[in-house]
Formats: sequence, structure tokens, C-alpha cells
Amino acid sequence: MSDGEELRGVVLAGGTGSRLFPLTKVTNKHLLPVGREPMIFHPVKKLVEAGVREILIVTGTDHMGAVVGLLGSGKDFGCEFTYRVQDEAGGIAQALGLARRFGRGGRLVVILGDNIFERSIADFAAAYRRQPSGAKILVQEVDDPGRYGVAVTEGNRVVRIVEKPKDPPSRLAVTGIYFYDQSVYEIIDKLAPSGRGELEITDVNNAYIARGDLTFDVLPGWWTDAGTFESLKHATDLVEATVGR
Ligand code: G1P
Repeated sequence: MSDGEELRGVVLAGGTGSRLFPLTKVTNKHLLPVGREPMIFHPVKKLVEAGVREILIVTGTDHMGAVVGLLGSGKDFGCEFTYRVQDEAGGIAQALGLARRFGRGGRLVVILGDNIFERSIADFAAAYRRQPSGAKILVQEVDDPGRYGVAVTEGNRVVRIVEKPKDPPSRLAVTGIYFYDQSVYEIIDKLAPSGRGELEITDVNNAYIARGDLTFDVLPGWWTDAGTFESLKHATDLVEATVGR
């Protein structure tokens, strides 16, 4: 891939939002407010800021209408949206598999719709464009790694990722910002469901590690998910402190 080649974006905005019930009883988690904007605006704006112009939004059947009503064609954001329905909550990797046709054999930058963070990802997108193949993840040191995928590094390589370990092997959380080449689909096709019955994004990343084709960078600035009451409030506090009330 050359420097000028286009990366397509994917925002994964499915799931049941069970950890935010009853806020998510009649709406999608990603439509809840974080600061003055719906949660999903944040990852969309990060993609556009990084130069991504075509963005796929994946969400469930229940609230697709509201998501389309909110985001529209993309002209208000400076991008073009494509929408795909995830029929049932089969996990992040299953949702990503729905990007196959949208991706058209090119490379993707994927953001989980509940990931809220401070800095631009433009430099990481540029670094990934220069990477000949494979995947890139962004990690950040946290105090509560057991809530996330946790990366174990040796030198400048990630040697394994453990999903929500009870006894975390490091403090490096894997953020919900990923870069993938076209081999992601054959990897997803071979995945088996995890103990919670879902296709896990951590298994996708471990498959890239097994191929020796995963790089990582540390995401600077603040970062949080917003999928629980505590983290939703934390995300709002961080956004308000950064952009002002
Ligand atoms: C997901 C991933 C996890 C990652 C996290 C980032 O977890 O499975 O590896 O660290 O997103 O937000 P979830 O929030 O879906 O439980």
C-alpha cells in the first residue's frame, strides 16, 4: 500500500448495551450522550480527521433506523456512510466480517463505537499505510487492565493478547482502534466462538501475531471506553474538560 492509498473506516456500533440497562432499553448505547454529542460522533470525527472518507457503520436491527436518522449520508461530517445490519450480537469480530464487501480488498481502520479518546489517529494511519501488510493495534497503560484485552510485549513486539484476564500479565490495554489488511476476513472465517459465544477481536489480533504480522503503537492522550455507567461518566468528564462545557 502506498502513502496515498485510501484507508476505509469501520465503526462497530452493535451489541446490546446490557451494562447500561435501562439507558439502553429503547436506544442504542452509541446514541447516548458523551458531552454535547452522541457517543458515535466521536469515533466518526476521529476517522474523518485522519483523512478517512468512506465509513461503514455496523449496528443491530433494533436501532438501525435511529442510527441512520442521526448520521444521515455523511455530508454533515465530510464523509460517506455505508450501513450494514448485524442480525444478532455475535461479537466484534463477527461484526467486522460484515465489512468484507465494503472493504473491496483494501485496508481498514476500525474503531469500536464506544471508544472515546483525545488525540488524532492521523499519524498512526499514516504509519499503517507505510506498513507493507498485516495489522496494527494501539495500546495504552491503564490501572484496571482486567477490563480489556491485555497485551504482553517483548521489545517492540506484542507476543500475545489475553482478553479480560483475571490476573493481568501487564498494564497495557488494547484500545478499540485497529488497522487491518484484507487477510482479516480469512482469519475471521476460521475463528471459533469464545466462552461467551462470540467471535472475539482479540482472537483476530492473536492470529496476526501468529503470522508475525502485527505492529503496535502507544496511543497518547486520554482514552476510555464508555460502555459502563462509570466509564460513560468518565468519558463525559474527559470530553468536557478537553473541549469545555
Ligand atoms: C472490547 C475488546 C477488548 C478491548 C476493548 C476496548 O471489549 O474485546 O479487547 O480492550 O473492547 O474498548 P468490550 O468493551 O467489548 O468488552
